[in-house]
Amino acid sequence: MITGQAETSEAYDVAHPSEGGLDIPRAPGHWGPLGHLPLLRHGLLSTLAELGAGAPVVKLQVGAVTKYVVSDGDLAQEILGDKRQAFGRKRVIRGFRPVTGDGLLSLESREHREHRRILAPAFGRLPLARITPLICEVASEYAGRMFSGPSSGPGLDLDLDLDLEMLRLSADITVRCLFRSHTDQETVSWLATKAAPLSKGVLLRMLAPAWSPALPTPEFVARRRATHRLRQVVADLPARHMPAEGGDDVLSLLEGAACPARGPARISRAAVVDELVTLLVAASEATAVTLAWAWHELARHPRAEQAVQAEADAVFNSGRSLPEKLLEHLPLTTKAVMEVLRLYPVPVLPRNALREVSVGGFRFPRGAEVLINVYGIHRDPGHYPQPHTFDPDRWPSDATPLALSSAYLPFSTGAHRCIGAPFAALIAPIALAALAARFQLRPAEAGRRVRAVPGVVTRPNRLIMTASPRVGAGIGAQRVSEQPPAT
Ligand code: HEM
Repeated sequence: MITGQAETSEAYDVAHPSEGGLDIPRAPGHWGPLGHLPLLRHGLLSTLAELGAGAPVVKLQVGAVTKYVVSDGDLAQEILGDKRQAFGRKRVIRGFRPVTGDGLLSLESREHREHRRILAPAFGRLPLARITPLICEVASEYAGRMFSGPSSGPGLDLDLDLDLEMLRLSADITVRCLFRSHTDQETVSWLATKAAPLSKGVLLRMLAPAWSPALPTPEFVARRRATHRLRQVVADLPARHMPAEGGDDVLSLLEGAACPARGPARISRAAVVDELVTLLVAASEATAVTLAWAWHELARHPRAEQAVQAEADAVFNSGRSLPEKLLEHLPLTTKAVMEVLRLYPVPVLPRNALREVSVGGFRFPRGAEVLINVYGIHRDPGHYPQPHTFDPDRWPSDATPLALSSAYLPFSTGAHRCIGAPFAALIAPIALAALAARFQLRPAEAGRRVRAVPGVVTRPNRLIMTASPRVGAGIGAQRVSEQPPAT
């Protein structure tokens, strides 16, 4: 899987005349030979938030390494969009390729465009409308299972590691709804505990020197083992595939593109596995932390929690069949998800300048290591009053996390914008509502502060919460069955 092939982004490295522009200033707080190390004493996320409220772009020096931190949404959009050919993703590729092989996250240029073209139909309006009832079913089943174990039952409370539980749920939803396959609950649990955390080392690998992944550290050995098993799990999925009606589910599309009998093969069999691993890792982890943070914030904001519960009851506890265009019945839940994605996004998007390039009038030298500071952009007080406060009401009632704005980039933009964004924007509110219809969550460790930890996503350090069945919940809950798509 690990091909070691040259990073194709270098292909863009062609001669360009110097573009000039203003020199990029150094971030305040530089301490002689220590550089900006003292600035980082409160942690990377605090620094990113602080930089978000400051200059559009600054140089941050940590030891011998200089990072160009972009905290202005318009500059970020230019780098990710119009000027994308001047920037590579070598650090993203270095971080992900050991786990995901040559899937979308590690591909560039023509191959990347071809894979996106193959997969795009799975994320269209119709296929997603078709799988909406299935998403509800998987989430409702999960909620039912939680209170059916030996240590649980109606009236009993249950302590949950939310990070892990939400990984379990999102991995199950991805396999069953997106891939249209299935696997047993034991494997789903393995995916949650061993496979999804594979991305925990990604940020480190992105920032580490090039030789470090080759060292046989315990982390390296465990990752190799887990990656191997993950590929086996994924390679078994086609045998259990139940194709979607329109043949536009992820597995059908990939299998079709890899099958010479259905026309000239456009991708290899190995590439199919790489792509499935990529989608599973990317989908499970980012969606799971979004849900985990949502529970954390709702427990601290009763008004927002009640709003979500009221919508959840109307949809899942009314005894009526599921409404078409389900999301239109969950506007407040959607706003809560948007606010979580603002506060706890993928914190930074790394890029590297392939040539000298001017962006927004600033000169980025060739080789500049750029960090798009999504965390800081999302907490810019110029755009968001009281930026660190969870306030779903800051969004208009018809808001959607898919809307493009320079101050809100949870799914990035440009050629590498998250392909799964429409799926994530559907499953996060639905899963939240389906679970909120059945139980309420409260912190299990009163007084313990939950810290946000930077990684490839922003995850909670430890989030143990107690789930209590909601009085009367589940009574009259509908049987969810496959329905024709909303038109
Ligand atoms: C709340 C959930 C999610 C968030 C916050 C999120 C965020 C992101 C971001 C910020 C990127 C862009 C990285 C860059 O520009 O370098 C990205 C890329 C990607 N995401 Fe997501 N994502 C989520 C859910 C999903 C889901 C559900 C899937 C799959 C079904 C998925 C699959 C991918 C893939 C394959 C890429 C790489 C796209 C490319 O390079 O062409 N993500 N995601």
